[in-house]
Amino acid sequence: MEKIVSLAKRRGFVFASSEIYGGLGGVYDYGPMGVELLNNIKAQWWQKMVREREDIVGLDSAIFMSPKIWVASGHVAGFSDPLVECRTCHTRSRADHLLEDIGVQADEKMSVEEVNGIFSANKEKIKCPKCGGKDFTEVKLFNLLVKSNLGDFSSGNNDPVYLRGETCQGIYVNYKNVLDSMHPKLPFGIAQIGKAFRNEITARQFIFRTREFEQMEMQYFTAPEEDMNEYDKLKEYRFAALLELGIKEENLKWHKHENLVFYAKEAYDIEYKFPFGWAELEGVHARGNYDLTQHGKGSGENFEYFDQQKDRRFIPHIIESSAGVGRLFLAVLSDAYDEEEVDGEIRSVLRLPKHLAPVKVAILPLSKKEELSAIARPIFDTLKKHFVVSYDETQSIGKRYRRQDEIGTPYCITVDFESLNDKAVTVRDRDTMKQERIAIEKLPEYLKGKFE
Ligand code: GAP
Repeated sequence: MEKIVSLAKRRGFVFASSEIYGGLGGVYDYGPMGVELLNNIKAQWWQKMVREREDIVGLDSAIFMSPKIWVASGHVAGFSDPLVECRTCHTRSRADHLLEDIGVQADEKMSVEEVNGIFSANKEKIKCPKCGGKDFTEVKLFNLLVKSNLGDFSSGNNDPVYLRGETCQGIYVNYKNVLDSMHPKLPFGIAQIGKAFRNEITARQFIFRTREFEQMEMQYFTAPEEDMNEYDKLKEYRFAALLELGIKEENLKWHKHENLVFYAKEAYDIEYKFPFGWAELEGVHARGNYDLTQHGKGSGENFEYFDQQKDRRFIPHIIESSAGVGRLFLAVLSDAYDEEEVDGEIRSVLRLPKHLAPVKVAILPLSKKEELSAIARPIFDTLKKHFVVSYDETQSIGKRYRRQDEIGTPYCITVDFESLNDKAVTVRDRDTMKQERIAIEKLPEYLKGKFE
């Protein structure tokens, strides 16, 4: 994990937020390479969840929403984690995580009294992660919604608004708009990618658990008796999409939730084998008709769907797939990171699936001499129309290969003095390090073939 974090910073993938001011816990920025990888991951999700599906449409709802939404959804009352504070150093921790660390499970469905009971029963074994102290306050619930204020205060309205805790609420409250404007027949889905915010008590493991993050969520609306059938199909579809993204199958597994949160009918997570162990990558949940029922009650809107063929009305059931972009990004980096010994030195390389690589082709003239750039520049100008290409003529060729290996660039093109005579260049493959001499005029076709 340390190596991945260090490479992520060194090579411009991920930076700690506000670093020059000492940082802001649990918030990260994505650098020049990171944003390319992030966009490639999101593009594949959109391709699979919207473009390749006749029955799913996209949406981009606002982050700010009426606070009534978060009351109706149950988040204001119940979106909480159990918190304890170390009486010695005042570090706050999640009680369920401290219990997990000593091999005791506390699940989401337990009341705060139950968690308190288990915590007290195990207090001899539990240590503060910061100072090692064993004296903790009672467990209390800590709401994860991030409050903000917005709007007209002149009328004395000081009610908070919330930064959305999950993107799917924006989908539920637009369900009728989509139905009335696009007229889809059930079953159909609405997909959205966007930021979500949670006041996590302890942000942990780099970008795995952060306070600001992006979600890729798809909510699928079905007739009541069809939801579990569609649920099975969605589970299969999402697992296959992760394999297609390039995640190694041996690093993925299903985890069934034994104790369900209040709205869920059935819930599974796809877990990934992160460097720190197996953990949730994305969730696939059957939510029954909880969400539309709640928003119907909260808003007074009628969410009944009229099935003309069967001449009946019902509130649709919802199944969802919900993935964190940052978590998938970390999984992709972990999957791709590799080290090997080459000529007595360790080469670290990101063996990224080619379609995810931030830079597809690097053009590396052997030196900065003008006669070489006279050949290399036109190659760059031609290839940049087809691929993300980088042009690098600084430092030794060895160092430049190392840099490209560490950002996962599949192909490096070296322009050398021989190129002046034979009008050809050397193409080096990231994974095999084999080099091939290719005529300059054949490069676009050659590379297109490689990426197909
Ligand atoms: N709408 C359902 C929902 O939000 P969730 O299990 O709370 O379900 C879904 O979150 C996904 O969002 C998780 O599987 C994870 O990938 C991502 N996620 C949740 N909290 C996160 C956090 N604090 N930091 C990064 N990703 C997070």
